[in-house]
Amino acid sequence: MESIWSKTCRLEEREALSQDLDTQVAVIGAGMAGILTAAALAEEGIRVTVVEADRIAGGQTRNTTAKITVQHGMIFQRLIRTLGEEKARQYARANLAAAEKYRALINARGIDCDFEECDSYVYGDCREDLEAETRAAAELGLPASFTEHLPLPFPAAGAVRFTGQAQFHPLKFIRAMSEGLTICEHTPVLRIEEDRLVTPGGTIRAEQVVFACHFPFVNFPGVYFAKMHQERSYVLALEGAPRVEGMWIGAGEGGYSLRSWGNLLLLGGEGHRTGENREGGRYQRLREKAREWFPQSQEAACWSAQDCIPPDGVPYIGRYAPTRPQWYVATGFQKWGMTTSMVSALTLRDLICGRQNSWATVFDPARLEAETVSGMAAQGGQAVKGLAKRFLQIPSEAASEIPPGHGGIVALNGEKVGVYKEEDGTLYPVDIRCPHLGCQLEWNPDEKSWDCPCHGSRFDRWGQVISGPAQEGIQLK
Ligand code: FES
Repeated sequence: MESIWSKTCRLEEREALSQDLDTQVAVIGAGMAGILTAAALAEEGIRVTVVEADRIAGGQTRNTTAKITVQHGMIFQRLIRTLGEEKARQYARANLAAAEKYRALINARGIDCDFEECDSYVYGDCREDLEAETRAAAELGLPASFTEHLPLPFPAAGAVRFTGQAQFHPLKFIRAMSEGLTICEHTPVLRIEEDRLVTPGGTIRAEQVVFACHFPFVNFPGVYFAKMHQERSYVLALEGAPRVEGMWIGAGEGGYSLRSWGNLLLLGGEGHRTGENREGGRYQRLREKAREWFPQSQEAACWSAQDCIPPDGVPYIGRYAPTRPQWYVATGFQKWGMTTSMVSALTLRDLICGRQNSWATVFDPARLEAETVSGMAAQGGQAVKGLAKRFLQIPSEAASEIPPGHGGIVALNGEKVGVYKEEDGTLYPVDIRCPHLGCQLEWNPDEKSWDCPCHGSRFDRWGQVISGPAQEGIQLK
């Protein structure tokens, strides 16, 4: 399923790496974070090579709703409470600088990317909470105010409004930003040996390495698999719905997001932890909401996105691990990938150039705040559950009971296997063991994929990797 960004902007194809090379910085991943980091380093005169397993913006960048905003849900009360005012200020300052940098780049380079200044809103049902969040954000110097005037088709008590935010077309922007950069597409990194990145077409020797590949795939050191989980959410692009001014998102779990682009209204929601999707019907539920709220609208496109969620709500941007001082990472962006990609570029540029950065502490991947520690324990429990499930009893359902066009876990020749049945009845049995760390995969009926509830790896119905941290596909049985 293609997003409206992919449908309306084609990116020039780059060649895969076909020889060994030396570079100062190798950036793994040509999504928004990787391209912006590479561009920021190149501007400093640093030789950078970007390697991408798929295409430029082939991962989450093409599936975003493309909001550039400092307003990240109801985060500011939480940050002040859990990290203290100084770190909350760092977080706010970093994101303000990122939004400003987008504006400056787009103006200076004259990038035609449908950039549009607008306000952002978090709506909710508890006025008290919304007002408290407004006060917390305003105390940190953010342009926050409370409003009860909501142009929404459903009731809410009010919203926290941030003025002067923006939205854009992410692929038109990344197309301009990737011009002039050395980028090798279709070049997966098979393994990393200190300063050597081994790919199928050659080895790159790099003085420094940046992991900007959504979910870092080197398990040790770093242990990012224990410090984040992944969540999926779904989007419909609607024609014929009234235009909504500004960018809107619900305050709590189960809220919906709305923004307009041209004559389309983007309605997002139905989020869930990746792999916990057995009942399916997420697109269906979103379609029901679209019919209820915008009965005159027609669906022009639908797609889904995946986000990495750190337990304390703060991304990991900085040194990969104390034992690998020449490696850097940018991950854990939650739903705020556009703004946080720019925060990553500015932060990593400063760290790599040996400059002072006034907000780097709050994003330090080595932090061990109370919420990080309890989140790691919860994540460990989830992994144990996912592993144990594999050894539970063989299901009684047989492959013959799976309807055409569907998949599921069944008994086949006395074994527990995953099966996808084509419309013509052809079966594709796969090993349900995730190649990352062995958890049991689950069938995703909305996307027709095999998804891992432990750390969010995804595989298509034939077993090929769609997204990591897994690096290899699942075995056909
Ligand atoms: Fe880690 Fe599947 S993604 S075990």
